[in-house]
This record gives sequence, structure tokens and C-alpha cells, in this order.
Amino acid sequence: MNWLSDNINQLALLGAAAIVLITVGVVGKYIKNIKNDKSEGELADDNWDGIGEYKNEVPTGWGVVYILTIVWAVWYMVAGYPVNSYSQIGEYNEEVKSYNKHFAQKWKDPDKETLMGMGEGVYLLQCAPCHGIAADGIDGKAASFETWGTAKGIELVVKNGSKGMGYTMGDMPGGLVPDEADIKAVSAYVANGMSGNPKGKEVFDTACVACHGADGKGMEGMSANLTTYGTPAFVTEVLNRGKIGDIGTMPKFDDGRLTDIQKEAVGNYILSIGK
Ligand code: HEC
Ligand code: HEC
Repeated sequence: MNWLSDNINQLALLGAAAIVLITVGVVGKYIKNIKNDKSEGELADDNWDGIGEYKNEVPTGWGVVYILTIVWAVWYMVAGYPVNSYSQIGEYNEEVKSYNKHFAQKWKDPDKETLMGMGEGVYLLQCAPCHGIAADGIDGKAASFETWGTAKGIELVVKNGSKGMGYTMGDMPGGLVPDEADIKAVSAYVANGMSGNPKGKEVFDTACVACHGADGKGMEGMSANLTTYGTPAFVTEVLNRGKIGDIGTMPKFDDGRLTDIQKEAVGNYILSIGK
């Protein structure tokens, strides 16, 4: 950023230059007077060991600066910092906002390769500190992105439950489906976009429908929307909600830290891991 494009910096610089010029002028004049000793005028009554003081007028430059200072103070209060609520943090936030807009515009329609590259970058910076560089889960306590988002991931959810995303319905208990073959069937059915696999549909309609709805959409956002499971849209939903798991708390990424396209990119990236 060019700091001279900031009007407050410009004014400050102008003021500083004026003060230097006026000071040099006034001091120069008095030094000249002292040298020539041609000062004249009415002496004040008081003197100190014979050293007296002239009753001089207030120097014009001094008076002008004095008044300008008052004018500046009023401007500063009214249009400058406090009342106009200008702040450097505010300016920073505005710059971030305009940069993000520019960023979103630039990457509006990235090709697959760009999206993956962006996703990997976001992952390494924002996600790897908790999920690990290899993203393969931690001793079964954290989701392994090698299986999460696939039918295998759904099997684990049906067995172990899922918690911590703050849906109105609360957490999903584990152990809802006792039979291993049924678990496989229902997971395949959900992973296949809620279609195919008649056996899976049957299990779904008994064990899952109460919370996820017949269409699997999670009933007005009261529980997870399974029709997007395994797609970047589901990852974006997780990022916007945050998640409290056994290894700790994942923060919500809904504060502008990541733009929509970055969320989509990182979603594409983690869903491609190990698959
Ligand atoms: C501060 C730690 C932390 C950070 C940073 C973090 N996560 Fe998480 N994440 C967690 C925890 C804890 C869980 C819950 C345990 C689990 O399922 O792995 C979780 C779970 C997930 C899940 C599985 C959710 C589910 O429904 O089972 C996804 C997907 C995910 N994170 C994606 C991401 C992405 C993408 C990023 C980076 C943009 C990220 N996380 C950054 C801690 C974090
Ligand atoms: C008691 C209500 C309830 C039932 C029954 C239920 N679920 Fe869930 N399900 C939820 C809730 C609530 C969530 C979101 C939990 C969270 O905060 O992580 C969820 C999340 C999920 C997820 C996403 C997990 C993730 O990694 O984010 C899947 C997949 C899922 N359910 C599948 C199923 C299947 C399949 C069944 C039937 C066998 C089922 N659910 C039955 C309430 C339920």
C-alpha cells in the first residue's frame, strides 16, 4: 500500500512541513534581531539584573499556528478519528473485505487443478494443525479423511454416532443398527445419494427417517443433511458449524477467515484424500 494515498497521512505530513517552515522563519528572524541588536520598542517594567524584555506583539505566525491547531483539533474530533469512528483496525477490516471480494472475483470459476491446489494450501495452513498432514485420524478419536465422506465413513457414524455440530436435534447416538449387513446397506444407500439399494432404503426408513427425514435432508436443518454427505457442500456446512469432538473443539470458520471458494476448495481436497 502506498501510505501517501491515505488522506490522514497527507494532512499530517503537510502540517509537519508547515511547522518546520514557520519555526525556521521565526527563529531565523529573532536570531537576526539578536545579531543586529536593532530591536526597539517599549521595555517592560520588570528587569533582571539589567536584562529587560520588550512588550512585543504576539508574532503573527505564532498566532496563526495557534488558531490552526484549534481548527485541526475540531476537524480531528468531528471528521477524523473518534466521532467518525475511524480506526486502524476498521481500516484493516475494510481492506480485508475488499481483498476478499477481489479474491472471490478472481477465482470465481477455477478449474479442477486450481481448486485442488488452493484446497491443499488451505488444508496445510488451516486444518493440518489439528487433522494432521496425512489427515488419517488420530487413534480412532478423530475422523480419518481417508474414509470420511464415503460409505465407509457412514458405517462408522452409524456404529459410533456423531456429535458436536450443534444441530437442534442434538447428537446422534451410535448403535442404532445392530446388524452389520444392514449397516453396510444403509451406508451404501446414503453414499449413493439416497438411491439404489432397496435393502438400504428399508433400513433407512426404519432407523434413520425419524431424525433425517424421508428425503434425508435433515428436516429444516434440525439434523445433518445427508443428501450432501460426501460433497464439498457438507464440508462447508461442517466448517460453518464447527465441531466438538473427542480431540477437542474445531472452531467455526464462518467469520470470513475462509471465503466460500476456499471452503469449496478445501472440501474438494479432503474428499479426494485416499479415495
Ligand atoms: C482446532 C482444531 C481444528 C482445526 C483447525 C480444524 N478442525 Fe476439523 N475437526 C476438529 C475436531 C476436534 C473434529 C471432531 C473430531 C473428528 O471428527 O475428527 C473435527 C472434525 C472435522 C470434520 C468431520 C466432521 C464430521 O461431521 O464428522 C471435517 C470434515 C473437518 N473437521 C474439516 C476441517 C477442515 C476442512 C479444516 C480446515 C479448514 C478443519 N477441519 C480445521 C478440529 C479441528
Ligand atoms: C436420533 C436422531 C438421529 C437418528 C435416528 C439418526 N441420525 Fe444421523 N445424525 C443426527 C444428528 C443430530 C446428526 C449431526 C450430529 C453432529 O452434531 O455431528 C447426524 C449426523 C449424521 C451423519 C453425518 C456425520 C458426520 O460425519 O458429520 C450421517 C452420515 C448420519 N447422521 C447418518 C445416519 C444414518 C445412516 C442413520 C440411520 C441408520 C442415522 N443417521 C440416524 C441424528 C440422527
